Amino acid sequence: MMKIAIMGAMPEEIAPILKIVGDYKTTEYADNTYYEATYKGSELVIAYSKIGKVFSTLTATTMIEHFGCSILLFSGVAGGINPSLKIGDLIVATKLSQHDLDITAFGHPIGFVPGGSVFVETDKELIKIAKDVAVELGKTVQEGIIATGDQFVHDEAIKKKIVDNFNADALEMEGGSVGVVCNALNVPFFILRAISDTADTDASFSFDEFMESSAIISAEFVMKMVDKI
Ligand code: ADE
Repeated sequence: MMKIAIMGAMPEEIAPILKIVGDYKTTEYADNTYYEATYKGSELVIAYSKIGKVFSTLTATTMIEHFGCSILLFSGVAGGINPSLKIGDLIVATKLSQHDLDITAFGHPIGFVPGGSVFVETDKELIKIAKDVAVELGKTVQEGIIATGDQFVHDEAIKKKIVDNFNADALEMEGGSVGVVCNALNVPFFILRAISDTADTDASFSFDEFMESSAIISAEFVMKMVDKI
């Protein structure tokens, strides 16, 4: 049976998923906790990575290489950049970049290093499943570009730079690195985020207020997708 990885970055991002699956086995591995469950006929491996590109790279790699997952779904929150995205809105990444990967000093484009690419693309079939779920639930899910970096953005000038460089609609701290892992290991992946803040000067207050409710919105949506995979 195919194993599905479901990842978040923070405990609050996977707590609603663990609540839905109800019963799970816990395994400690590589300084993290992995939760294995059977849910509606699918085998799931669930974990939160801790925040940032390094931890999310480790967790995604572990879920694929150690636990044998062959599809990866990420659920969590993001800072909205596109003004059409409001708190609680869902965004599905079509492609992701690393906005802080910078060797422009050597004439390369921002987000690019030799052997890599500025963007990693998510799986089109998983996006199609998300669209079907959205129709069923009567919800709106926006498709867009997500920029990832090891930085909680709370500054208009940085936001503008990320839009100028990547035409990004939202930003967060894990999706781009998870995408690099999945692409390299040929694992279809999907990144869903619900907006917790708009990455401006009030972002940390907004994040504290809305992170948990937005994480639930994203997690519940991802679990509806599992039924259809
Ligand atoms: N995740 C949620 N909000 C964010 C922000 N403003 N910057 C980076 N990651 C985030």
